[in-house]
Amino acid sequence: MPGTDVLDHRPARTAVPRRLLMCRPRYFEVSYSINPWMDPAKPVDTALALAQWERLRDTYESLGHTVEVIDPLPGLPDMVYAANGATVFDGKVLGARFRHMERTAEGPAYLEWFARNGFEDILWPEHINEGAGDYLRVGGLILAGTGFRTDPRSHAEAQEFFGLPVVGLTLINPKHYHLDTALSVLSQDEIMYYPQAFTPGSQAVLRNMFPNAILASDQDAAVFGLNAFSDGMNVILPEAATGLIGQLRDRGFNPLGVDLAELLRGGGSVKCCTLELHGA
Ligand code: ARG
Repeated sequence: MPGTDVLDHRPARTAVPRRLLMCRPRYFEVSYSINPWMDPAKPVDTALALAQWERLRDTYESLGHTVEVIDPLPGLPDMVYAANGATVFDGKVLGARFRHMERTAEGPAYLEWFARNGFEDILWPEHINEGAGDYLRVGGLILAGTGFRTDPRSHAEAQEFFGLPVVGLTLINPKHYHLDTALSVLSQDEIMYYPQAFTPGSQAVLRNMFPNAILASDQDAAVFGLNAFSDGMNVILPEAATGLIGQLRDRGFNPLGVDLAELLRGGGSVKCCTLELHGA
């Protein structure tokens, strides 16, 4: 039938239920600046951040995902960005060691949660790494960011601990300081990313590994459209990323736009607020 060609070639997608860890932004504020999004001169509406966060959590639960919550701690306003709290693959937990002292105490706070919740294989890291903000799993391998936060020496530590090949990628744009702000894993073998956030060498690596990846425009990258969570079918992302929403739909995904504008003032969105407890 004419006109249905694109539809006919859309791959069938299946959502896989996930277990997620989140942290309510009860003490969220922007009282220091460790990335270009953060302006301590502009007051943050914590109540609005809480409401937006609750809606994100409801969205996950309505899609059949399990959401665990860790208690927020006063004095740690960035703790809401749970992705940075650790990296969990196959039920193994690599602790985070933060670059900035403002976030240092989050590392042990998150590890304590894991220890209390039945996780046995936990590694307190030797090298600086900002958890699943810089470690993303695609099928049987790990994409690992560096350039701003995670020390490249942590990549070898992660490879040794998880027993999975780690592909290092170097970020160069300060607005995209964690890998999950510039690249998003959509399925076992598909990603979307913003090429300009990476060094030329890392761009070439991504082109070689993922020739059919979705590429984000400047506009979609600028609203943190790549800070997305995918369960293999549903892709939750900032609603302002209208270009990506269309591209995802064309590929047979079900994009769901959400408003996390208040949390973007700390330099994070959907994916930053979500830590996947992979294999647990
Ligand atoms: N203010 C936080 C920081 O600069 C935001 C972290 C965002 N998290 C993420 N996974 N990208 O560290």
